[in-house]
Amino acid sequence: MDQIARESILVAERHDIYPEIDPAEHFSQKTYQGKVAFITGASRGIGEEIALMYAKAGASFVLTARKQDTLDAVKQRILGLVPTAEVLALQTDVVVFEQVEAAVKAAIARFGRLL
Ligand SMILES: NC(=O)c1ccc[n+]([C@@H]2O[C@H](COP(=O)([O-])OP(=O)(O)OC[C@H]3O[C@@H](n4cnc5c(N)ncnc54)[C@H](OP(=O)(O)O)[C@@H]3O)[C@@H](O)[C@H]2O)c1
Repeated sequence: MDQIARESILVAERHDIYPEIDPAEHFSQKTYQGKVAFITGASRGIGEEIALMYAKAGASFVLTARKQDTLDAVKQRILGLVPTAEVLALQTDVVVFEQVEAAVKAAIARFGRLL
């Protein structure tokens, strides 16, 4: 952030995580091992970061969004950080019922279940 921007807003130099939401134990204990998550909006932003959290916590998961290439890039990023992650990247427009249905069926075919 440049100097002008820093002076015009409050900038937190350090971010704390209060214990109730600290994911460290989930990562170290792999508390989501055996769980299967279905993540929408997973090609960037909040969805991408949620996917990484699930990967670190041991879950298997499906990444969905409308563009396959960006989903594939997210999958590669996650596998680079968590090589053991089980990830399925499926192009899915969530406003199209048939696409969501097909993605859920593909997820169950791959992982056996959701949740
Ligand atoms: N309540 C709150 O306090 C709060 C705070 C922050 C964010 N939010 C909301 O949380 C959501 C995510 O925020 P973000 O910052 O991560 O957004 P973002 O960076 O714009 O990401 C949106 C994601 O949704 C996907 N997407 C958009 N339309 C889609 C569709 N029809 N079918 C499937 N995937 C679709 C996008 O990929 P494609 O374009 O490839 O489909 C992308 O992966 C937004 O709805 C935002 O408004 C709420």
